[in-house]
Amino acid sequence: MPPRRRPAATPAAPPAPDLPAVVLAAQVPAPAAVLALPTRAGDARDGTAVLLAQTPEGSSAADLAALLVAEDAKGTAGELVEHPLPGRPGERLLLAGTGGGTPAELRRTGAALARRAKGAGLLAVDLRGQRPGADAVRALAEAVLLASYGFTTKGDATPRRLREVVLVVDDPAGLQPALDRALVSARAAALARDLVNTPSLIKTPAWLADRAVALLPELAVRVRDERQLAAEGFGGLIGVGQGSTRPPRLVEARYEGPGDPRERRHVVLVGKGITFDSGGLSLKPTDSMVTMKSDMSGAAAVLCTLRAVADLGLPLTVTGLLACAENMPSGTAQRPGDVLTQYGGRTVEVLNTDAEGRLVLADALAYADRDLHADVIVDVATLTGAMPVALGKRHAGLFASDDALAADLEQASATSGERLWRMPLVEDYRQALDSATADLRNIGDPKKKLMGGSITAALFLREFTGGRPWAHVDVAGPAWSGADEDEVTKGGTGYGVRLLVRWLEMLATRPAQQA
Ligand code: BES
Ligand code: MN
Ligand code: ZN
Repeated sequence: MPPRRRPAATPAAPPAPDLPAVVLAAQVPAPAAVLALPTRAGDARDGTAVLLAQTPEGSSAADLAALLVAEDAKGTAGELVEHPLPGRPGERLLLAGTGGGTPAELRRTGAALARRAKGAGLLAVDLRGQRPGADAVRALAEAVLLASYGFTTKGDATPRRLREVVLVVDDPAGLQPALDRALVSARAAALARDLVNTPSLIKTPAWLADRAVALLPELAVRVRDERQLAAEGFGGLIGVGQGSTRPPRLVEARYEGPGDPRERRHVVLVGKGITFDSGGLSLKPTDSMVTMKSDMSGAAAVLCTLRAVADLGLPLTVTGLLACAENMPSGTAQRPGDVLTQYGGRTVEVLNTDAEGRLVLADALAYADRDLHADVIVDVATLTGAMPVALGKRHAGLFASDDALAADLEQASATSGERLWRMPLVEDYRQALDSATADLRNIGDPKKKLMGGSITAALFLREFTGGRPWAHVDVAGPAWSGADEDEVTKGGTGYGVRLLVRWLEMLATRPAQQA
């Protein structure tokens, strides 16, 4: 059934997270509270400052070169050397390393500058000696914005924020499109951080569904409540959600870009939206539960990707499915050993109620296959604790049934800076999911001692994709950060937004037959 179209209304601008303004200019505005002059690797060693575009009043190129030597500066990305500006109180000069000037290096530079300039009114970055390309400007701007992100529910004073950033370049008009894209994707990622950082006391499945409706005013958004889910056979969402007093929701949001939709491929994005994962009756230990408000990071990434795709007006058809439930233990919770029927009729023996993500995702994937006839499906999920054990906290695991799709996502990863690593769908492991009584078990049989929990989880999901081109991004590691690092901030990271937006931008430039 197509989503109900909402009456065309004036799209209320979504409340944008409080980020600095970023603009391009041909001249350094005066006075800038912080002026950053990029230095490249090698500058300091040469003892020259030739790559500094312009020496600010009050210092000479020789002063700056001497300073870099005295500070033993290497010019590597993220390195900052501070220089007082005599006679210009309130202003500071930062010499910022940019390494080889690649987008990845300028991303690191941008984050370092934004952090150091926190609380300054205006940061001017003089890039004229650098001659950055579109990708470099985009990476720098995204990083400046995302490193400036803050989320707090402290009762007292508002945090010190950077207000405005001026990127000084030789060709502001030529680079404006790249900056515009950076603003859209960084704002969407910051919005995803806000959703993830919101405490689960507030963040129920219904709340998340309401946010989707509010944040996507110009899209057709349909929300199925628990009654409709039960009536239509979404047994995974019902089973996972039944232990909570806050019932599950399935959000279906469709974006249709300009052009003839019949000539386009239909992309379906699926997000895990567990608004809190206690484990259910297979209760998590205290320490593992602490960050589980972030178990809806996949749904946040999908929702905010749609926001960005709509802002960019990409000529695509994209449906987002947010599978939202709260996983709680109670007298109404599902029990280990229960059997549920997924959307489409497959039965699953639930042997561990903490393996809940795959149950809600299976419903959404089956719906994408059977009802939406998706041409390509990508799901994003904080699915397994085994994923960060394998890849650490900064890489997502990529599983794909289709090599071309995997290659596209790897390319989008490389340009967006959201790192991932392809993992194998090991066919031999599939038998660990065989159940004696149902079509599948929801965890690998521990007696078989197969390990590879992220792989068996992905193999479980694949069962519901109907053989369609499908990729699964396990973001259990990178969705949440314990510390500020580069453009990542402590807490929810918004991981997946920049990756998916880049990927969809790539698809949008391609003729439909090749998408
Ligand atoms: N939401 C968790 C996975 C997770 C763990 C995300 C750590 C982020 C950080 C998921 O629902 C879960 O509990 N998975 C279990 C699966 C197991 C019971 C087979 C896990 O990884 O332990
Ligand atoms: Mn769980
Ligand atoms: Zn979970």
